[in-house]
Amino acid sequence: MRDTLTAPPARTQVPPRHLTGPNDLSLPLIEQLLDDAAVFERGDAEAAPLRGRLLATLFYEPSTRTRFSFEAAMHRLGGQVLSAENAAQASSAAKGESLEDAIRIVSGYADAIVLRHPEVGAVERAARAAEVPVISGGDGAGHHPTQALLDLYTIKKELGRLHHLRIGLAGDLRHGRTARSLALLLSRFPGNELIMISPPELRMGTDVLDQLNEARVDETDDLHGAITGLDVLYQTRIQAERFASLDEYERYRGVYVMTVDVMHRLPEHAILMHPLPRAGEIDPLVDADPRAAYFRQARNGLWIRMAVLDWAMGR
Ligand code: NCD
Repeated sequence: MRDTLTAPPARTQVPPRHLTGPNDLSLPLIEQLLDDAAVFERGDAEAAPLRGRLLATLFYEPSTRTRFSFEAAMHRLGGQVLSAENAAQASSAAKGESLEDAIRIVSGYADAIVLRHPEVGAVERAARAAEVPVISGGDGAGHHPTQALLDLYTIKKELGRLHHLRIGLAGDLRHGRTARSLALLLSRFPGNELIMISPPELRMGTDVLDQLNEARVDETDDLHGAITGLDVLYQTRIQAERFASLDEYERYRGVYVMTVDVMHRLPEHAILMHPLPRAGEIDPLVDADPRAAYFRQARNGLWIRMAVLDWAMGR
């Protein structure tokens, strides 16, 4: 009795598989996750591979798609979910508990943690404190790696390849973690050209630009000019919550709006993507255009998150 109390079995034999940002994703791992997601989408996977496993989702920022798709993915894999959808108020963070302490505690209850947090680097800090895999659901204006994976999955499914593409990333590239992560992942594939479309004040950060060595990169503030040669236009929301004041945000709100008229400039074979939620950047009248891929894109999040959870906790 005494021995079992003093010497509990080690919880994990191997280091946990964290996914805190694009740098955790090697090219072979990206390809494996895209392939696994396709297997899940086809319904060819083993039934309930995560039966008996528990996922904790800790969201310190609002979310619809990311949290629901992770939770739906976990249920579809046969596992169960513990959820704090408003962790800033509903957890002991409201009493001043540190993120590290919260993660250490939740690590003892769950087999993996999905974390969304407003501070850049918070997910990496959490991973250092955790004994189980920590998967990013977005860290402030930092990164959103599973969104970038589902974006790749969508591009591959819609256009048949992930190389030799001209991709326009438009909107708030300074604060938009989805565009930042996607740019890094796209630059790993050969022959891609990235056109960064933003007002000068909302340019893509040099921390990302400096790592895009494989890709050709152009920067412009002219959406209408850039659009005509694209294979993918990736539109993003101006990130109101990241500006110092509402006045500053108002300066950029509505800077790029996709309307039925502007869609005439986008090539016939191209697709329009958006991580959603949209806040006026795409007129709902555009939804009927077959090139409008954003609702299909959101749905793909389910397959990618099944693949990510299975990789982190399975086998
Ligand atoms: C994005 C996010 O949270 O970064 N949403 C999402 O996860 N699909 C995009 C955004 O909020 O603008």
